[in-house]
Amino acid sequence: MSKKVVKLDINDHIYEVLISPTDLLVDVIRKKIGLTGTKKGCGEGDCGACTVLVDGKAQLSCLMLAIACEGKKITTIEGIANQETGELHPLQKSFLDNGAVQCGFCTPGMILSSKALIDHNPHPTEKEIKHALEGNLCRCTGYVLILKAVESYVDALSKKEA
Ligand code: FES
Ligand code: FES
Repeated sequence: MSKKVVKLDINDHIYEVLISPTDLLVDVIRKKIGLTGTKKGCGEGDCGACTVLVDGKAQLSCLMLAIACEGKKITTIEGIANQETGELHPLQKSFLDNGAVQCGFCTPGMILSSKALIDHNPHPTEKEIKHALEGNLCRCTGYVLILKAVESYVDALSKKEA
């Protein structure tokens, strides 16, 4: 199949990349663009490590063709930190502050799945957070601290609003 140059909007930057129609989004993001914060675990839609935001929704980039993402807004973990100062997003800080990061392999996916939820529902219940994260697997932390990190961030948001 012949390759084609596509324009991908990733983290508010337009990348022109030469890809084949069968290239997966996760491979293009990691190998052609070099944003390795997005992880590739199972490659089959089972672990959530490859989660990115596409038009604000959490999506598994190992199940998406990159060519199908032209014209969509893609956000990777690198895109949620402050782009000018490099300061981490408060949700990233909450994961660190609550000890929710061990090896870190699942962390970008966990954070982006949480962010997609909270961006649309700023006051999620514990059940809603668990539901949003059910496709993200962690081999290290046992999920308690991850849940705590997300809940702490939600609490901080609520206090800010009060
Ligand atoms: S690498 Fe995509 S779900 Fe596991
Ligand atoms: S921190 Fe290691 S897989 Fe989650």
